[in-house]
Amino acid sequence: MAEYLNIALPKGRLGERAYAMLDGIGFGCPSILEQNRKLIFENTENRVRYFWVKPSDVAVYVERGAADVGIVGKDILLEQNAEVYELLDLGIGVCRMAVAGFRGTRISTDRTLRVATKYPNIAREYFRSQSIEIEIIQLHGSIEIAPILHMSDVIVDIVETGTTLRENNLEPLETIVPISARLIANKASYQFNRERMLEMCRRMDALRNERKEGVGRDSTVSI
Ligand code: PRP
Repeated sequence: MAEYLNIALPKGRLGERAYAMLDGIGFGCPSILEQNRKLIFENTENRVRYFWVKPSDVAVYVERGAADVGIVGKDILLEQNAEVYELLDLGIGVCRMAVAGFRGTRISTDRTLRVATKYPNIAREYFRSQSIEIEIIQLHGSIEIAPILHMSDVIVDIVETGTTLRENNLEPLETIVPISARLIANKASYQFNRERMLEMCRRMDALRNERKEGVGRDSTVSI
């Protein structure tokens, strides 16, 4: 009998949407829909086991092999630089990483720019590529408050609809990178479960294209 395939899902709306896709391609696990506080669910018939984990922990479970595959935002993958294979762009959770601030904020090399963010590595890398010296102010949420209170000059954060920025009188100044949810795999596990994982990718890609949602067709197996 086939081994279980362990799948780490990010708790929350993105994870629920990803599960709906997995269910749609034959990796369903009905017990996951029960209203309880369990975190691990398995389906003995189709040999899948799901874990609900904190979104920023998905890549840790996959990197360490506790999960064979996982669903994670590209923002987290870029920030953590995890040693995993990125198999597929799921075309959900589409947004962008941006520099934002007050209209007319000047980003120049004249002085050190104070950048508030949950994503220090992405911010450092971006401004390094622009040869702009920065000071990182690391926060864990409600980043938009920092420039309003003059604690930072700009923020680096996710922009989806732009509503949060608008309602706080801020605006996107520069786009750093487009973001969406990715299917990732543990490197060793990929070698052992290659066929099953590739089949999973093929079906998810087909489903994604059927739904005609999300960003362009950059859904390649980049390993
Ligand atoms: C994210 C992000 C922005 C907001 C962007 O915050 O940090 O604040 O969503 O979405 P919008 O462009 O559609 O308004 P999240 O809800 O994750 O909460 P956080 O402030 O705790 O990061």
